Amino acid sequence: MDFHELIINRRSIRKYTDEPIAQEDVRLILEAALLSPTSKSARAWQLVAIEDKSTLEQLAACKPAGAMSVAGCPLAIAVTVDSTKSEAWVEDASVAASYMQLQAAALGLGSCWVQVYGRFAADGTPSDQYVQEILGIPEECSVLCIISFGHPNEIRKPQDTEKLKWENVHIGKW
Ligand SMILES: Cc1cc2nc3c(=O)[nH]c(=O)nc-3n(C[C@H](O)[C@H](O)[C@H](O)COP(=O)(O)O)c2cc1C
Repeated sequence: MDFHELIINRRSIRKYTDEPIAQEDVRLILEAALLSPTSKSARAWQLVAIEDKSTLEQLAACKPAGAMSVAGCPLAIAVTVDSTKSEAWVEDASVAASYMQLQAAALGLGSCWVQVYGRFAADGTPSDQYVQEILGIPEECSVLCIISFGHPNEIRKPQDTEKLKWENVHIGKW
């Protein structure tokens, strides 16, 4: 599959089979993050890969909705960046997360972005603090998101290129 086909076919996958992800694939996914570009080449990401079932279940409670894919996945990666080392930490973390999602798609794996930054747990605790506590992440490492990964257990249609929002594109001038 060429790159364009890959991005047409990549969809958020929230249901996974019980099959574990091969360690070689886990390594390739992490390597994708470490290959991603960063502002001023800060490379200040800190990634936490989680495979332990009970930790995954705890993480899924970081917010009341939209995090359930983490409870049922064989692998999740918390994406954090040391915000004392990169003022563009949101962007650095976003690019790393996207690279990992694309690498996963290229391996035939599904993934889903679970937003953490700016969200709140059911008891009002900021979701990023909640995740930092569970995973022992230092305060300076801001948590943007958790990406869940796994072998797809749902079928999603590819994107329809006939429905792309070309009206949002302005050539030369608005
Ligand atoms: C910044 C960002 C935050 C997202 N947060 C969540 C989330 O918390 N939970 C979730 O299930 N999906 C989340 N998603 C996935 C989007 O819902 C999904 O990408 C969008 O609906 C388009 O669907 P597609 O990825 O299948 O093309 C997020 C995606 C992005 C880029």
